[in-house]
Amino acid sequence: MLAQLLYVSNRNSNCTQEEIDNILAACKKNNPPLYITGVLLYSERKFIQLVEGDFNTLMTLYDKIKIDHRHSEVMMISCSPIKEKSFPSWHMATKKIGAETIDYSTDMTEQDKAFFDEMLLGNESDGKRVIKLLKTFLES
Ligand SMILES: Cc1cc2nc3c(=O)[nH]c(=O)nc-3n(C[C@H](O)[C@H](O)[C@H](O)COP(=O)(O)O)c2cc1C
Repeated sequence: MLAQLLYVSNRNSNCTQEEIDNILAACKKNNPPLYITGVLLYSERKFIQLVEGDFNTLMTLYDKIKIDHRHSEVMMISCSPIKEKSFPSWHMATKKIGAETIDYSTDMTEQDKAFFDEMLLGNESDGKRVIKLLKTFLES
């Protein structure tokens, strides 16, 4: 079953840019053979990752990611079956976003910003809206 999983976490202070590069290298090596694609946004303090692929494969990957010491307080926002992928062509699209406050792109409405803040707090799980926002970030 094709599924999509979204989580947020806190980036630990030991997670330097070099470690981010190592994470991306792991994504590049491991995700394509598993048909896992997605998006990873990161700031100085946070990670937001959306992964898409076979449900069981995603769960196995999530179990591994959850115990990674480069982040903590990993919190699943949503995990749902999907008909088709929203990010089919990225083994893991990446984008660094603003530090303390999220550096919102200008075409985000106030409502979108508020929604995104709620999402970072784990209070939102409207999948379609999250995807739209992630796309906005990737394109900005
Ligand atoms: C925020 C975050 C996202 C990650 N995303 C992935 C991922 O999509 N795919 C992956 O294989 N590893 C990912 N990792 C790394 C895994 O936790 C783990 O270190 C890696 O899969 C080990 O790869 P290896 O078994 O090839 O050594 C992520 C780690 C962090 C902290």
